Amino acid sequence: MLVYIKENFDDMSKAGARIVADLVRKKPNCVLGFATGGTPLGMYKELIRLHKNEGLDFSKVTTFNLDEYVGLPPEHDQSYHYFMWENLFKHINVDRRFVHIPMGMAQDIDRFCEWYEAQIEKAGGIDLQILGIGANGHIAFNEPGSSLGSRTRIKTLTGTTREANARFFKNPDEVPKYAITMGVGTIMDAKELLLLASGEGKADAIAATCEGPITAKWPATIVQMHRYAFVIVDKAAASKLTMKYTD
Ligand code: PGA
Repeated sequence: MLVYIKENFDDMSKAGARIVADLVRKKPNCVLGFATGGTPLGMYKELIRLHKNEGLDFSKVTTFNLDEYVGLPPEHDQSYHYFMWENLFKHINVDRRFVHIPMGMAQDIDRFCEWYEAQIEKAGGIDLQILGIGANGHIAFNEPGSSLGSRTRIKTLTGTTREANARFFKNPDEVPKYAITMGVGTIMDAKELLLLASGEGKADAIAATCEGPITAKWPATIVQMHRYAFVIVDKAAASKLTMKYTD
């Protein structure tokens, strides 16, 4: 695990974008795993800048998103479909046919999840999976207690996650109760991981992830078992780390 501590959110975002851009340049038809949430937004802005100013070419890239709320149609402004198109995809030259985001409106969710796993496999696996982290140590919607070997499936969101995400909805009751999410095992199958975290609210989760014992209580701790994992955090998110790391 390579842990980098950056001065602030902007530096974290740029460092993350550099890793993604290097891969896209080296392997134009790579498979990228994308995440939603506030954390990757700065990195997505930087990727858009690299596309517009430096011609970073996403036309052959295949994408898979980590998760989606159950019951929200793609055009809902809080769906992760909407998030990805608004904040990244519509600003770069990604090919719509190569974009995969779980379908929150799937009729048969179990079958959809099997199909999603099969699509990842068919694409040759995910080369680089971008991850945020919940204050409770979740990755994607794999909440504490999730099997560390889990695959794509439906999960019930915890009260704390629903509260954390209520800020985006007009009414807290509108926050969906379920999500489709890649499993911890699905995430761990990616060839490389890039976990980003910013702010003091993530400090406990980052301390557990980098220095704690591996436990389903903090699902992100499994990242310690990955052979090629980058963890890039800002100083506030790093504030509870005790070992020495690079900056
Ligand atoms: P955030 O969410 O980036 O909005 O903090 C991350 C997560 O919950 O995984």
